Amino acid sequence: MPVKGMATASSNLNILNLLNSSTDYLEKYGIENSRLNAERILCSAINLNRVQLYLNYDRPLTDLELLDFKKRLKRRATSEPLQYILGETEFFSLPFKINSDVLIPRPETELLVESVLTWAKATKKLNSKLSVLDVGTGSGCIAISLAKHIENCIVTAVDISAEAIEVAQDNARLNEVHEKINFSQLNFLNSNDLDVLNENYDIVVSNPPYIAKDEFENLPLEVKGFEPPVALHDKADGYLFYRALADFSPSRLKKDGLLTMEIGLGQAEIVKQLMQKHFTEIKIDADFNGIDRIVSCQFLHLS
Ligand SMILES: C[S@@+](CC[C@H](N)C(=O)[O-])C[C@H]1O[C@@H](n2cnc3c(N)ncnc32)[C@H](O)[C@@H]1O
Repeated sequence: MPVKGMATASSNLNILNLLNSSTDYLEKYGIENSRLNAERILCSAINLNRVQLYLNYDRPLTDLELLDFKKRLKRRATSEPLQYILGETEFFSLPFKINSDVLIPRPETELLVESVLTWAKATKKLNSKLSVLDVGTGSGCIAISLAKHIENCIVTAVDISAEAIEVAQDNARLNEVHEKINFSQLNFLNSNDLDVLNENYDIVVSNPPYIAKDEFENLPLEVKGFEPPVALHDKADGYLFYRALADFSPSRLKKDGLLTMEIGLGQAEIVKQLMQKHFTEIKIDADFNGIDRIVSCQFLHLS
């Protein structure tokens, strides 16, 4: 299966030549870091790590390997995210299997996990029995990272997407925390569905869909063309889930509990106003780019 613009003569099909031609190919399609992308895709297609790749520049590919590599390369040329093509990613230094049913976990979301762990340490609850609710679990990245780092926690992880729940369950097994997480498919915006969330939670955490419907079209192709829309926008003004979390938390969160959420660019002020109706302590933390990203809420001043 020739890929336009790529070397195809069999004598050229060793690792080094393929890397060079596929780097040029991706570059032509405007893919940033084309060499790194080509290396990662080739590693995945022939099951070698990057060091092994460099040590085996002369190794030719089998026909099957070549077919697989070219297929994946073509996908990348259409701007499909590398993580979907590889079928895996890393979050909070843990491995996650992913596919196009789930949002690709973002580095900013690691700050959300950190906000929970910082709170648990500060309140000396890291070793207590903690009950956690993760709203919109997707790949399960938040729920699983917390289950890994909080010894005695039990996490309830919910999502509207049955496909996402399946991915998250696989990831919980992969990371050996499946016994600490209960997964449930439900619509958090439907009050009838919330009856099953009838515990008193120590922590409610969420990275909800926060893009407004009108802003969806402005997202980069890599995002709007490939990630699940249900994970990105709320079909409204971008604040639906914050309103729902503000309504839900006062009755389901323990008095000394924590509600912590990821927010989008420019949403801090409105989310703060929504939360002020219910919480006395509201903290906003910025991400690596100085953008307000995490809003943490408590009922009581604990220091
Ligand atoms: C921004 S993604 C976050 C995924 C994951 N927690 C992460 O941080 O990478 C939002 C998630 O919320 C889920 N979701 C969307 N609408 C929902 C609803 N009404 N009820 C529950 N989950 C919903 C989506 O399926 C998606 O997995």
